[in-house]
Amino acid sequence: MKVQEARYVMSNSDYLKCPQPILPEYAFIGRSNVGKSSLINMLTGKKALAKTSQQPGKTQLINHFLIDDTWYLVDLPGYGYAKVSKVERDKWEKMINDYLYNRENLVCTFVLIDVRHSAMAVDLEFMSTLGEAGIPFHIIFTKADKLKPGQVANQVEAYKKKLAELWEEIPPVFVTSAEKNDGREPILQAIGTYNQTFEKAK
Ligand code: GTP
Ligand code: MG
Repeated sequence: MKVQEARYVMSNSDYLKCPQPILPEYAFIGRSNVGKSSLINMLTGKKALAKTSQQPGKTQLINHFLIDDTWYLVDLPGYGYAKVSKVERDKWEKMINDYLYNRENLVCTFVLIDVRHSAMAVDLEFMSTLGEAGIPFHIIFTKADKLKPGQVANQVEAYKKKLAELWEEIPPVFVTSAEKNDGREPILQAIGTYNQTFEKAK
């Protein structure tokens, strides 16, 4: 699937104020600094669409981007950022969870994992909670350019093995580099297929 046009629509702290829930929507979530906003820019081919930063804690609201007037990409704040106050973290967590658990047009969530790190409890717990709540998600490994291809493959295999110890079924996984523009097509293809299903179900 190709992306012709991508534009910023709005930012909200409350899911109830987000755009009318009539188009299929896909959200990017993961630890702060994992590369959520960069990946949105890579997928849309627009370098400055979502704001990125070397400092964690950049994205602080629910950001909607409308793609080709037919579907939304949503950039969310990260979880697990130790440097913001507990009050602030709790506020973000509530905002994210209210959105994830209640947004009726959210078709699939993409959980981003930095491919350089071995499985972290905070991510595994986050994914378990999604699973228990019946929220479908895929995993996207980011920053693949930071390792050699063989190392990337080893990291992904080790992660899958860890997941297989915990769950019966492993979600689809994707490997990306926003830096090198790698891994775009399989993700857009998955979204394209979901979009068709959403259309049929209407
Ligand atoms: P928060 O909004 O703070 O939660 O962060 P985020 O997950 O949106 O991360 P963001 O996209 O802002 O990227 C964080 C840093 O990682 C930036 O310095 C990016 O340039 C860098 N980065 C993101 N993706 C990649 C990648 O694929 N490769 C490399 N080398 N750097 C990346
Ligand atoms: Mg961000």
